[in-house]
Amino acid sequence: MHKQSRHKQSRGFMIALEGVDGSGKSGLARSLSAALRDAGHEVLATHEPGGTEAGAALRKILLASNAYDWTPTAELLLMNASRRQHIDQVILPALQAGKIVLCDRFVGSTIAYQGAGRGLSEALILDLHRLTIEDLWPDLTLVLDLDPKVALERSRSRLQQSQIDEGRFEALDLAFHRRVRQSFLDQAAKLPAPYKVVDADRPPELVEREALSQVSEILAERIP
Ligand code: TMP
Repeated sequence: MHKQSRHKQSRGFMIALEGVDGSGKSGLARSLSAALRDAGHEVLATHEPGGTEAGAALRKILLASNAYDWTPTAELLLMNASRRQHIDQVILPALQAGKIVLCDRFVGSTIAYQGAGRGLSEALILDLHRLTIEDLWPDLTLVLDLDPKVALERSRSRLQQSQIDEGRFEALDLAFHRRVRQSFLDQAAKLPAPYKVVDADRPPELVEREALSQVSEILAERIP
């Protein structure tokens, strides 16, 4: 279905981390970055929505609990605006410099949240991705798979403790988050090559070990 567009003329490698809220992506991003740096790679760790100054402003208005009642299509366009700024200012330059870009969420989240979650058509999301993001797909998408019931509790309590006002999606019901989880699994089933599903219902060290071995395997194919 998706034709994966390579970031042409770039020696870099892009990994996206995906999963439901509370699946452990941020912790994995930290440990995976450290492990890849230890192995001698230059790593740029970043995240979406955000990753640039303008993107951080968009993140605030998209994620604050009571900020704005965006319609699904408006939400989709804002996610894409943040992504375009991010690829122009951060992702493509890093890939062209030969770095490993480790991005906490990318287009997979748009398919899952705005598509399966909000009910927008996947065709619209993919068309927009092709038209506005140059059809840039990560070399590898790691999906951290966890029951949203467990994950959401984790995420909600973390938000409460940190007092960061980013709970707009966490406030949505379990049915929404179940559709999101299923979408990630469906994406992985449809696109076996660049997607790998990692069972996140295990101690973080085991999740990290498996993620690192998936990354190393694909890196070894790309950079023999
Ligand atoms: P996180 O960065 O803490 O994982 O939270 C970002 C939230 O934004 C998360 O609930 C998923 C949501 N999101 C979308 O709905 N669509 C997108 O395209 C992206 C990148 C994130």
